[in-house]
Amino acid sequence: MQYLVGIDVSTTAVKAILIDARGSVIGSASTPLSLAIPRPGWSEQDPADWWNATVASIRALLDRSRVKPESIVSLGLTGQMHGAVFLDAHGKIIRPAILWNDARSAAQCAEIMHLVGEDRLRDTTGNPALVGFQAPKILWLREHEPDNYAKLRHVLLSKDYIRYRLSGEFATDASDAAGTLLLDLAKRDWSDEVLSRLSISRGWLPDVYEGPEVTGHLSSEAARTTGLREETAIVAGAGDNAAAAIGCGVIHEGTGLLSLGTSGVIFAPTDKLRIDPSGALHAFCHAIPRAYHLMGVILSAGGSLRWARDVLFGDGLNRSELDDYDSFIEPAKHIPPGADGLFFLPYLAGERTPHMDPAARGAWIGLSLAHRREHLIRAVLEGVAFALRDAWERMTALGVAPSALRIVGGGAKSAAWREIIAAVLDIPLQQLAVDNGAAFGAALLAGVGAGTYADVDEAVAQTVRLSGDQEEPVGEFVEEYESIYRKYVSLYPALKESGIWEET
Ligand code: XUL
Repeated sequence: MQYLVGIDVSTTAVKAILIDARGSVIGSASTPLSLAIPRPGWSEQDPADWWNATVASIRALLDRSRVKPESIVSLGLTGQMHGAVFLDAHGKIIRPAILWNDARSAAQCAEIMHLVGEDRLRDTTGNPALVGFQAPKILWLREHEPDNYAKLRHVLLSKDYIRYRLSGEFATDASDAAGTLLLDLAKRDWSDEVLSRLSISRGWLPDVYEGPEVTGHLSSEAARTTGLREETAIVAGAGDNAAAAIGCGVIHEGTGLLSLGTSGVIFAPTDKLRIDPSGALHAFCHAIPRAYHLMGVILSAGGSLRWARDVLFGDGLNRSELDDYDSFIEPAKHIPPGADGLFFLPYLAGERTPHMDPAARGAWIGLSLAHRREHLIRAVLEGVAFALRDAWERMTALGVAPSALRIVGGGAKSAAWREIIAAVLDIPLQQLAVDNGAAFGAALLAGVGAGTYADVDEAVAQTVRLSGDQEEPVGEFVEEYESIYRKYVSLYPALKESGIWEET
């Protein structure tokens, strides 16, 4: 039997998963990570912590599963997108990595738009300059830490730093590279034009591969450290959203994924390159040769619910009640759609789709003496659904309209939330038999690279199963939510216009 490993370097943990060729999970191990917020709006991690957590997770996996390392033919990498890992000429870490949810580089985004030109940037890289993306972070380093910048010789994404530690290779994959703002999407390679306008050396960037391609093998030192064999192949892998999509079988136009984690993502593959002229949806490469995808990202989905839970119930519930979302969502199920006139804007960390506004902030609007705690929770569940609808509207306006969405992530476990989202989006939501996250998709790419499967289609056909449970939109709620959503969309422009966010 051939076994495959997937490794996901997320913001909260490094997860390693071991599967067999049928996609059965033989074992998994997760090592938590901490996040540093040295200043408001900043978000950093030490790549050395990612490496130590990767080693710990692989070792735990091997110990628990008792699979012989020589039967592990291939390993796939995935992880948080957009971050910048800065290395010197000796491959040493220069400073902590600046992450996807770091908002320090607004000035550099404006500079990029100016240097490249807004239209040219969008036509080439598929996207406007956004603070989360990698390129503005490189410019930030140049402007704010010139001593560190002088040492810079390599810039990597999170999972590609792990690849470097495993194999010594500087390589990435097209889906993750697309989130740097430096990739020519049509060519699926770095854009010499954008690099030269931003004065970034191409030599600092890793080689770009397709997701299932083999980029190298383990070094003898990494094999000793992890317990894996030198013969184990390492495939390019994917950014976390593309890997999650592969793990759910969302690989062709007509399928779609809704991920309800801390952030909320609507992901739809496109068979040819499509770019959102408004810039509200990201256009990236999929981790499948020649394929692309559109993606709407709302920054606080499960994050909004967790925040509301903590501020409203923090002292009143015990730990297991706090962790069991359904226990505090339960009373909100009995509140009617629209929460008796209460709205929630989920912009707790600013917003990407559709506003692309780091200064936006959250709000409950329409509070009255009649509202109880369960109304506040109901409004949060609905506000997140409306924010997802904003992304969904953009997608369908571009003609990308899957007939159902596969729903994954922690929030997908709540039946009440699924019912609200299905009605607000007016689309069926399908659940998977097992939701194994992005690491599973990375393991499938590893299987394609090793020849276990002929291609990604075959890998998905042999391993991904739907649960058979499908949340259908309930007709009367669809109608009710339609008119409530129309009111919701007027709130952001009104608050923006008021100028209150500029002063925070
Ligand atoms: C996608 C994005 C996040 C990160 C974090 O554009 O910023 O989903 O990949 O995991």
